[in-house]
Amino acid sequence: MKIIMLGAPGAGKGTQAKMIADKYGIPHISTGDIFRANIKNGTELGKKAKTYMDQGLLVPDELTCDLVVDRISQEDCKNGFILDGFPRTIPQAECLTDALKERGEQMDYAVDVDVPDENIINRMSGRRVCLNCGATYHIVNIPPKKEGICDRCGKEIVLRADDEPETVKKRLDVYHAQTQPLIEYYSNQGILKTVDGTQPMDAVFESIVKVLED
Ligand code: AP5
Ligand code: MG
Ligand code: ZN
Repeated sequence: MKIIMLGAPGAGKGTQAKMIADKYGIPHISTGDIFRANIKNGTELGKKAKTYMDQGLLVPDELTCDLVVDRISQEDCKNGFILDGFPRTIPQAECLTDALKERGEQMDYAVDVDVPDENIINRMSGRRVCLNCGATYHIVNIPPKKEGICDRCGKEIVLRADDEPETVKKRLDVYHAQTQPLIEYYSNQGILKTVDGTQPMDAVFESIVKVLED
């Protein structure tokens, strides 16, 4: 099963993608997580990506497309994968479509987790992430068992560098200008499924499983 998670920043793509990946035993591929790991490790890619991410802008397509095409060609992706945060522009989507077409394949589902902008700012200001294992929490909606500490690995959880309110507004603008057109792109491919992302986390998950198994 090859799935794309679409949705605004903070819509819950990462939260849901991890649960879907666990349920179906497929790799969860988040370009945001890959860039953050590179920043943490001080790589060349990380240094380049950071200048864009801190401003709420997209990392250029040429730094992103090859990375994903390479990742989905690995052995663990042969039974499927879930993409979270990619594609984010029409050129990225075309690059993905072309790379799969060369192998005689195509994506199966593009799931749009729909959340209006009004709900987003509150979610982002409450989000805490573990930079060690990638787990995500919300101080009110989805709190860790012990305040400030990751349930999964015991390390400290922090506010993401790009979750300051001003940067979140910029990311929303960028989403509407560059990423939202993908909804029509995948609707035209006949694989778009929309779920109401304002429901509680478990209800969103059930909605997604339902569209995948219908
Ligand atoms: P990325 O890491 O992908 O960030 P994003 O798309 O802005 O999305 P987020 O991770 O912020 O939100 P999410 O939808 O995963 O929500 P989450 O599950 O955490 O990208 C970051 C940056 O990297 C980009 O700005 C760009 O610079 C760069 N980048 C990445 N990919 C790129 C690409 N392909 N091309 C170019 N640049 C790229 O949930 C949010 C919060 O809400 C959490 O606190 C969570 O606990 C809570 N929550 C989740 N679900 C619910 C619910 N149902 N009810 C209540 N609270 C909930
Ligand atoms: Mg995410
Ligand atoms: Zn952790």
